[in-house]
Formats: sequence, structure tokens, C-alpha cells
Amino acid sequence: MNIIVTGSAGYIGSHACLKLLEDGHQVVGIDNYSRGNRGATAVLERFERFAFFHIDIRNQTKLFNILTDHQIEAVMHFAAYAYVGESCHTPLIYYSNNMCGSLSLLEAMGEAGITKLVFSSTCATYGEPSMNQIPICEDCAQNPINPYGRSKLMVEQAIKDFADSDQSPEGFCFVILRYFNVAGADPSGRIGEVHRPETHLIPLCLQAAIGQRERIDIFGTDYPTKDGTCVRDYVHVLDLIDAHIKSLNMLKPGDMKFYNVGTGLGYSVKEVVKACKNITNVDFETYEGARRLGDPPVLYADSSTVQNEIGWVSHRGKLDNMVADAWKWMKAHPEGFDRK
Ligand code: UFG
Repeated sequence: MNIIVTGSAGYIGSHACLKLLEDGHQVVGIDNYSRGNRGATAVLERFERFAFFHIDIRNQTKLFNILTDHQIEAVMHFAAYAYVGESCHTPLIYYSNNMCGSLSLLEAMGEAGITKLVFSSTCATYGEPSMNQIPICEDCAQNPINPYGRSKLMVEQAIKDFADSDQSPEGFCFVILRYFNVAGADPSGRIGEVHRPETHLIPLCLQAAIGQRERIDIFGTDYPTKDGTCVRDYVHVLDLIDAHIKSLNMLKPGDMKFYNVGTGLGYSVKEVVKACKNITNVDFETYEGARRLGDPPVLYADSSTVQNEIGWVSHRGKLDNMVADAWKWMKAHPEGFDRK
């Protein structure tokens, strides 16, 4: 299949490209490099079946030309800003990049007659579900509590409205995947997670283990959880990409699918820190600090819909596997991708 991946130089987008290329697809990657890594593109460009364009998805004319020139049949849309904290300080860049970017993509898809879309959404669209809504099902009320979550929810709604309208091409279908906490890396160590700045717990712990930061602050130890720290559902990035590919393969004309993608297992911050210490064999320093604003105490998924409808299962769901793969990447690339 000829597939375009937006945000191809980002953490999840680059893993999607690599897997699609390994599966034999023709892949076009696009990225504006505002957050993505040129080094990820360099790894992907080793495949002849990969073409890359340095463009912003809001440039609809160029986007349309790429879609038609490469006879694109399906879109995997990852390009977005994704820092919750940043979205509260500078919401407009979130609405512009995430919302306007996606509208531009939908319009270009409509004009080019492309009928298949897989969209990267987030459990942040659920906001702070009450404890009786945990594990979180797809029909849990969506009340995002920050501009990042709101921008993703708006895109979900725009995609659905587009699909319901005459603006979308005949047979248009989509799947919206709401990710929980994505972690790990391709076990080959070729690509991995690089964010600047890094704010995610596992890579921060690994940075502490490798000596790049003095300690890890544990944000809150007085939550109503098993050990007082927040509980999250960590899903291996390759399992997540499997969900994208499986759902794309299952899409039929007119389908409108919404799936939560997590393992259904909740790990506390302290459990994650412990796993990182075990895998790295480094007893890095931790500090039990104050809560971080906007952190719900417990978030984990009910993924039975994606399991039952497309047969998705998490093969790499153990926390130790995710940490081990992320550690392999970090040890091989302590400064991130090579800068050439
Ligand atoms: N944490 C710490 N110390 C740190 C960093 C994180 O204690 O230095 C804690 C957080 O408070 C949280 C847990 O570790 O309880 C996980 O935090 P991350 O920042 O790794 O991930 P989040 O759960 O905040 O964010 C993830 C995704 C977002 C998504 C969000 C939905 O990365 O894109 O889940 O809640 F929006």
C-alpha cells in the first residue's frame, strides 16, 4: 500500500514508518521538524521505499500535490504538539498545529479522494475520569482538562463530521486510536524516544541512570493509590504501531472506529522507578516532591474493544520489556540521534 505518515520524524511516527517499511509498504514521510528528529529521517531513508518531504501539513497545496503524486491510499496522522504543560502556557500553537493542521490534511485528503485515515489521539481527551470509570472504555465521557486534550478532541469531532458529510470522498473511513502512556523503542536500537525537552517518566529515569540528570522528582506521594503515586498504563510503542497497522488493514468503507490502546495494567510512578533501577542496575537518586498540576491519580485502559474487533494484543506489555528496549536505545544513543 502507498501510505503517508505525518510527523514521520517524531517518536511514534518514526516507529510507524520503520514497521510499515519492514512490512513492504511504500511510505511517504512528512514532518516540519518543529519537534521531530532529522536523525530519524536518516535512518528511514536507508529504505528505497521511503520518500521524505520537509513540509508543514498546514501547507495544503504542497500536501495535496504529495498525496496525488505518490498515489497515496491511506494516511497515518501523527503530526502534533503533545506537551500537556506547554499547551496550558501557549494554547494557540496547539490549536493551530493540531487542529488547523488536521483540517488542512482532511481537506487535502478530500480533494485527493483518499479514503483511509488512522488518527493518533490520546487518553488526555478523557480528562480526569472518576474512579468508577476506571478502566476507561471508549464511551467514557470526554472532558479534557487542558488545551492539548481539547485540541485532540476537536480533531476527533472534525474527522467524524467530515466522514458524515458530502465533503468526504465516497467510502471514507477512519480509526481513531486513543493512546495511553507510550514507552519503549524498536528493540533493534535504530530509533527511539527523543524529546527536547524530555518530560516523560521513563526516559527521565534512564537519563538519571546514565548520569545526565542528578535525580528524579516523584510528583506527589499522597494520591489515593497503592503506594501514593500516580498510576498509568504503559504501552510499548511497537504494540501501539501494531494497533495502527491492524486497524488500517481491517478498515472497510464507511467504518468509524474509536479504540483505546493500552495494556489495562496500571503501574505506579514508584513501580516505574524501581523497574528502571533494576534494568539499568543504577540506584539513581529520587526526591519525593509535590504533585504536578493536572495529573489524574489513575489512568488505565479497557482495551477490550480493540482486542475483540481487530484481534490486537499487547505482546510487549511487561514494564521491564519497555524499559529494557528504551535503555538499549539510550545506551547506544545517549545524546539522541546522531547530528549530521
Ligand atoms: N512523573 C514524575 N516525575 C517526572 C515525570 C513524570 O513523577 O519527572 C509522573 C507524572 O506525574 C505521572 C507519571 O509520572 O504521574 C507519568 O508521567 P509522564 O509525563 O511520563 O506521562 P503523562 O501520564 O503525564 O502523559 C501521558 C502522555 C500525554 C498524555 C497524557 C494523558 O505523554 O501525551 O499521558 O494523561 F496526554
